Amino acid sequence: MPATVLVGAQWGDEGKGKITDLISSNFEYVVRYQGGNNAGHTVIADGKKLALHLIPSGIMYDHITPVIANGTVIDPKVLLEEIDMLEREGFSTKRLKISGNAHVIMPYHRDLDGASEHRLGKNEIGTTRRGIGPCYQDKSARIGIRIQDMLDENIFRQKIEVALAEKNPILSKIYGLKEYTVDEICDEYFAYCERIRPYIEETGQFLNEALNEGKNILFEGAQGTLLDIDHGTYPFVTSSNCSAGGAVTGSGVGMKHIDRVLGIAKAYITRVGSGPFPTEIPLEEEASQKLLNIGKEFGVTTGRQRRCGWYDAVIVKYAAEVNSLTDLAITKLDVLSEFDTIKVCTAYKCEGKTYTTVPEHQSVFHHAEPVYEELPGWKCDITGCRTFYDLPREAKDYIDFIEDHAGVRVSLIAVGPSREQTILRRWK
Ligand code: IMP
Repeated sequence: MPATVLVGAQWGDEGKGKITDLISSNFEYVVRYQGGNNAGHTVIADGKKLALHLIPSGIMYDHITPVIANGTVIDPKVLLEEIDMLEREGFSTKRLKISGNAHVIMPYHRDLDGASEHRLGKNEIGTTRRGIGPCYQDKSARIGIRIQDMLDENIFRQKIEVALAEKNPILSKIYGLKEYTVDEICDEYFAYCERIRPYIEETGQFLNEALNEGKNILFEGAQGTLLDIDHGTYPFVTSSNCSAGGAVTGSGVGMKHIDRVLGIAKAYITRVGSGPFPTEIPLEEEASQKLLNIGKEFGVTTGRQRRCGWYDAVIVKYAAEVNSLTDLAITKLDVLSEFDTIKVCTAYKCEGKTYTTVPEHQSVFHHAEPVYEELPGWKCDITGCRTFYDLPREAKDYIDFIEDHAGVRVSLIAVGPSREQTILRRWK
């Protein structure tokens, strides 16, 4: 098990944090390889409930070295707030490593994220407005600022001058926003840099050396496969590769080391932000209200209410292919306990054609009508089940249905929020 990648198999918020926390005792390194503080999960450790957005949850365990690798985008202010919060709560952050190649979120990225969403109006993406997209945009345009640039005052100044020559006119002339001066940005960011400096590491080399020494690494994906910039529901996606391939480019570790890819999917499905969602249940329907309230479907990062829908087997099958999933974890199975029957989407219909895989063309997916199978519910409390055999027959059948359709073994099943409420079925 040298390297395992954990990825979201839906549109994010699948409960990756809980599963990472559960399996992290098997790993010496936990690595974030993409995204930034658009992610968020709540972790319970030593009886304390903490919300983390950027730092891998492995930070809570003394045997784990948490790494924020090159494929991420880092808002230094948020990073330092998270470091301070952890230290205050008694968790040392000394082991944290941050790649010098990770890109830095600047104040103008946050401004542009908000302004561009405002301009799009009813066509907005529904971003987290954390500056993620504009920061990745600059990375691709090769005018981004990297963590390592902050280490040299002259280089940083020069790069900020180049960036502001382009950003200021956009901010003021297109969006009517305030311009920035080189000095104000330098003053703010040099102060951050002094505090971040001790954590900076050549993380690619560092991780490869660890693997050569026989250590185990867990790559912790953020968001989900359907939010991947290449494989998701573009343009309603995030700006990074959240699928398993991103772990390789986003960390500098070669793919020969990755021998397990664990996809996380909820027993139903949710989405935040805009974009197509074939199995969405209208908010006014009772089923939607049940999922929302029993599943507590409100975002950790933005507090937004999530859109809820029935399990979409087509999407998870797609995620199995895109990520080469070896295992699946099904979370929040207990949320379905109150339903008489449970719908599962196994295909889409659009303009008289049936699709059993995610249609490549955006407008087909937008108009896709779900084809449902209806499975019997179990109508009893399963939160105390600790083995697969403890589950009622209907719940076992539901899991078997998911497994058969995805063509991937379901190795873990979560039946409640706490760590103990997880059935380790085929996970070693
Ligand atoms: P961005 O990542 O802030 O640019 O947002 C782009 C899209 O990804 C929006 O629809 C967000 O709601 C969604 N998104 C970003 N991060 C997460 C996440 O952690 N969970 C679920 N959706 C997310």
